[in-house]
Order: sequence, then C-alpha cells, then structure tokens
Amino acid sequence: MRTKLIAGNWKMNGSLADNEQLCKAILAGMNTSQTAGVAVCAPAVYLSQLQNLLSGTAIALGSQDISSHEKGAFTGELSAAMLKEFGVRYAIVGHSERRQYHGETDTAVALKAKAALAAGITPIVCVGESLAERESDKTEEVVKRQLAAVIHENGHCISEIVVAYEPVWAIGTGKTATPEMAQAVHAVLRAQLHAASSVAAERVQILYGGSMNAANAASLLSMADIDGGLIGGAALKAADFLSIIAAAN
Ligand code: 13P
Repeated sequence: MRTKLIAGNWKMNGSLADNEQLCKAILAGMNTSQTAGVAVCAPAVYLSQLQNLLSGTAIALGSQDISSHEKGAFTGELSAAMLKEFGVRYAIVGHSERRQYHGETDTAVALKAKAALAAGITPIVCVGESLAERESDKTEEVVKRQLAAVIHENGHCISEIVVAYEPVWAIGTGKTATPEMAQAVHAVLRAQLHAASSVAAERVQILYGGSMNAANAASLLSMADIDGGLIGGAALKAADFLSIIAAAN
C-alpha cells in the first residue's frame, strides 16, 4: 500500500516572515498520528531558513527545480549536491511553468530527474497536457511522451521517483479535473510505469496537481491511483493546506 504525499509548491511566493508563520501554523495543526507524507517546495533563497525551521519535523523540504549538471559554468543553477546540503529531500522537475517559460524539454527534465536521483533527492516529475492538447484528444500521448523520457534516462531507478499529473488548464485556474478524469490519466501513467517495472508501478506515488483545495481534495484522493497532491495556491494558506493533509489521512 502506497502512503499518500501532500506537497506544497509555493512557486515564487513567500518572505522570511510569511514562511515562518506558515510553517509554524502547519506544524501546530498537523496530527501527530498522520500517515501521509508532507512536503513544502520553496523558493531556493529560503531553503536555509526552512532547513532550520523544519529539521526534525514531519514536514520534508523540497526545491522547485534542480540542475542536471554536477558543477561548473552554469550561471544561476543549483546542483543536487548544493540542495542536499540544505536538507532538500524532494525536487520538482519539469513543472509546466518551467517547460513553458524556460523551454525545458522532455529530455532536459529527464536529466534533472537523473541528477536528483544520483544525489538521493526524490524528483517530483510533473507531466500534463495543455487545454488545446486535451481538446484535440492528445492527453494520453502527451503525458506518456513526457514520462517515457524520464523512464528512458533513469532505468530501474524509476521506482524512486514521484510523478505529478498536472493538467496545465487546471493550474491556478480554479478548474479542477474531476476525480474520474484525473484517475483515468493516473491509470495510464501507472500502466506505463508497470510496463517499465512492476516494482515501480507498485511503489511510485502519482500525485494530482491543479486547483486542488480543501473542498475537492477528499474526492480526488479517494481514487485508486491518486496517491497525493501537488498543491499551489492552497499550500500558501495554513488552514487550507491542513485540510488537504487531513483528507489524505
Ligand atoms: P494550483 O494548486 O495553484 O492550481 O497550482 C498547482 C501547481 O501548479 C502545483 O505545482
């Protein structure tokens, strides 16, 4: 049985004061007997602050990106080894905002996942179709292509990743995929993992992301292949994030 994972993606939000308040409120509201894993993926400049605030707590720390390179002349990038020094346990790779605004290709994303895995950081690999792709019935083709690149580069290590299905049209729009729509895509991804490795199919958590909130979390999380959530807007409000965590327990 896979445990659930609720990960907040703070995107480019936060401040020293807000982060402290948010983390303290989440920690204070979390049930000590909860089974779901919880993580927050913060802007890189705050990782040191959050390492101090979260070490020894039930909230794991994540980054929002990671370099595929080990070191060297890559201005602005952060290596897996650097992130590891700041207690980073998860790294989001291939978020649609990075694919869209930074031109990240499927192969670039797969190599980022590989660099994370080599350093013992769990990549949260994001896949998802645009509205135009859904409307032209390309959803399955797109998410399979995106995941295939990651499987191709990572071989048997694929069982150590987390996948997040984030339909682009549902991100920050208030439009959520219905539980049935999300489940259908998650089942496709699970079958693809199974074809690569039965161990991976069994182990890999497949999260849903895209306007998940306190009101819709329970129904999404009740689906067979939805193993958690990658939460944007609702992760910035302690009460909402806590409700989603509670729905996963
Ligand atoms: P929202 O929850 O704000 O739609 O964002 C989802 C997301 O992109 C998480 O990575």
